[in-house]
Amino acid sequence: MNGKIIPWESANVHVSAHALHYGSGVFEGIRSYATKRGPAVFRLALHLARLQVSAAAHGMEIPYSAEELTEAIRQLIKRNEFGACYIRPICFYGSGSLNVDPSKCPVEVAILAWPWASYLAAEGKEAGIRVTVSPWIKFQSKMMPSTAKASGQYINSILAVHDAVLRGYDEAILLDNQGNLAEGSAENIFLVHDQVIRTNDLRHSILLGVTRDSIISIARDLGYSVEIAELHLEDLLSADEAFLVGTAAEVTPVREVDRVKIGNGGRGPITRKIQEAFFSATSGNDSKYDDWLHYVE
Ligand SMILES: Cc1ncc(COP(=O)(O)O)c(C=O)c1O
Repeated sequence: MNGKIIPWESANVHVSAHALHYGSGVFEGIRSYATKRGPAVFRLALHLARLQVSAAAHGMEIPYSAEELTEAIRQLIKRNEFGACYIRPICFYGSGSLNVDPSKCPVEVAILAWPWASYLAAEGKEAGIRVTVSPWIKFQSKMMPSTAKASGQYINSILAVHDAVLRGYDEAILLDNQGNLAEGSAENIFLVHDQVIRTNDLRHSILLGVTRDSIISIARDLGYSVEIAELHLEDLLSADEAFLVGTAAEVTPVREVDRVKIGNGGRGPITRKIQEAFFSATSGNDSKYDDWLHYVE
């Protein structure tokens, strides 16, 4: 935290921190995977580039370079002797003033890491999850920059996922302000129709996910046609397969949307192939994707 490795219990922030009150922080969610050559951080450079984009979108200057953050993450994994783990860098406005304008507050930087296996339940990766279309819409990118991963923006996701869980679903799908599909509360969405894979883009107020980028490459490498297109709710309901992707969720099939069965009501064959190729890439078993792995040793 702020340049030092400290025990989890000592990593405290004062209650007057600006970010606590107004959500004025930017962050990343990154995974390290266990490989034959030891732990490797998946697409670290792209995550740190997005952190920079998020900070710039909010006019925040990160007081460390990407090289310094990379080295800090490497040290954190090494010192904790982690194999597979989740890494959460966050840059936020600390204590200084509680004016809404954060310019009198210092930018603090912390990187958390902990072993964290599965997000949307391990069995969901095979059986698929049940999702609901949220009554909350995804904020439009002129309200807040949707391509930035900023703390306060997650209130929108929290409302959606909390409502979904209270109604007995695993996850929420948010529509954009035009009624088109946007994304999950923390995942991008892919649909399959007649062997063609489709996903949307920033015109639909999505976060441009690192996993989304990886899956587009993997799917094309597997020989599938991938179209970037506007997606409608009817496209989801009529899809042969649908899956959600994100660092935490990895590749998770959707088996049901508001009690409507998607495709065969389980993991479809293309989703399965993509999952397998994705995990080959993350585990270092496919040398084609070696550039995506930042080995700790
Ligand atoms: C709103 C939202 N969309 C999409 C994603 C997927 O992004 P990534 O693949 O970079 O984790 C996330 C992940 O945190 C997210 O919060």
